[in-house]
Amino acid sequence: MVSTGPVGVRKNSGLQYLPSASAGLETRSPNQEILPLTARVNDQDHLEIGGCDVATLVKQFGSPLYIVDEETLRTACRQYCSAFSRYYPKETLVLYASKAWSCMAICAIVASEGLGVDVVSGGELYTALQAGVSADKIYLHGNNKSQEELQLAIATGCTIVVDNWQELHDLTEMTAGSSQPIRIMLRLTPGIECHTHEYIRTGHLDNKFGFAPEQIEEVFNLVSQQQSLKCIGLHAHIGSQIFELQPHEDLAVVLVQWFKKAIACGLPVTEINVGGGLGIRYTEADDPPSIEAWVRTVSTAIVKACSEQQVPLPKLLCEPGRSLIGSSTVTAYRVGSEKSIPGIRKYISVDGGMSDNPRPITYQAVYRAVLANRMSEPATEIVTIAGKHCESGDILIKDAQLPKTQPGDILVVMGTGAYNYSMASNYNRLPRLAAVLVKDGESNLILQRETYQDLIKQDRLPERLLANMQ
Ligand code: LLP
Repeated sequence: MVSTGPVGVRKNSGLQYLPSASAGLETRSPNQEILPLTARVNDQDHLEIGGCDVATLVKQFGSPLYIVDEETLRTACRQYCSAFSRYYPKETLVLYASKAWSCMAICAIVASEGLGVDVVSGGELYTALQAGVSADKIYLHGNNKSQEELQLAIATGCTIVVDNWQELHDLTEMTAGSSQPIRIMLRLTPGIECHTHEYIRTGHLDNKFGFAPEQIEEVFNLVSQQQSLKCIGLHAHIGSQIFELQPHEDLAVVLVQWFKKAIACGLPVTEINVGGGLGIRYTEADDPPSIEAWVRTVSTAIVKACSEQQVPLPKLLCEPGRSLIGSSTVTAYRVGSEKSIPGIRKYISVDGGMSDNPRPITYQAVYRAVLANRMSEPATEIVTIAGKHCESGDILIKDAQLPKTQPGDILVVMGTGAYNYSMASNYNRLPRLAAVLVKDGESNLILQRETYQDLIKQDRLPERLLANMQ
């Protein structure tokens, strides 16, 4: 498997990405795998996920296609919950950060595992409510919530994570005179640096989210005087796709210090939310800690800080997105045209691209791919996988090692569950993809593919333009 081929390509095949069969499903941490936990190769040498042949799924549901493995998502949810029950002696709540992928089926699955949902807009809030998530397990974030979003949150009874002075002012006005106080948390900027892409770092002081440390006491004092606002806890989030554990330990210490101050200011705080951020494995070079290790670190750090600072243990919340949904999903594309530039590069184009996965062009994110219809064939070529958009930067994978491809082959890009559909666009008026949920050989559509009619649904053609048409 590691011999060097004629063109200098390590002769790996798609088989190298299969989750190791030796460990049981429950003991493998989904965020440490590149393919979903149920991935296997069937007799036809095809990739199978959730007991469904990927080639058959593409025939049935079309291409490109997001394929979500329910088992992997549920396993990740269960690992978070069971680790907390082992490592944290008080109540906990895991929230799914639905910005990673907000749709009704995914909200319904995480809710059925006992998770709550973190939302950052009226749209995400509406989706979670429509999926049946109970409002007392929904937390609304956002650095510029509109009056409508705040109204919806108040009316439905979810908890609002207050981000700034303006919001505090708006909420005070909106709730003045109401007999029942609304539940809020306060988001604070912890001043903690971590090593991840600068666009997805949020813990350092120079960023747009949350109250800065020097404002905290003033905020606490102000909130403690508002009868209509009940501040139940504090929140901070340091960034995303983080592999280090130390920043989360540091965050625990800082949050507990503030928690102590909040109690001293007379706030009825009982909850601490440490945010999300645990990274996942996109390539062999990535080595994130397991879900269990992350939960153990966070829990132990909070318990230790509370004991050192003599503060009662809070209810502990966290809100992972990527590490719950990321590794559960692959995107299947059909291979189309190719272009070889001798001595430079060979491009293989697929039928999607930056509109269904904007992460490579936005963050230089690196993915791996396999040929789902010839899994064991060794890689003999290094090719660049290009999308079909009118943009030179629309490259999904720069140097993919693959067998020689043919038009019609099914190329599967792995680890596409987080921030792909949720950041998808209709660039070049490409319809957004369908998504199918697979489990035990069953497949269910959870997002219908957009049609051309969908694309022009919001278009309006004023009559005077029609009249002028030649
Ligand atoms: N909580 C808050 C307040 C957040 O801002 C985020 C992510 C999360 C939780 C969930 O973080 P996670 O567990 O997924 O790392 N679009 C970027 C990621 C942006 C993350 C934004 N906030 C990407 O594609 O990498």
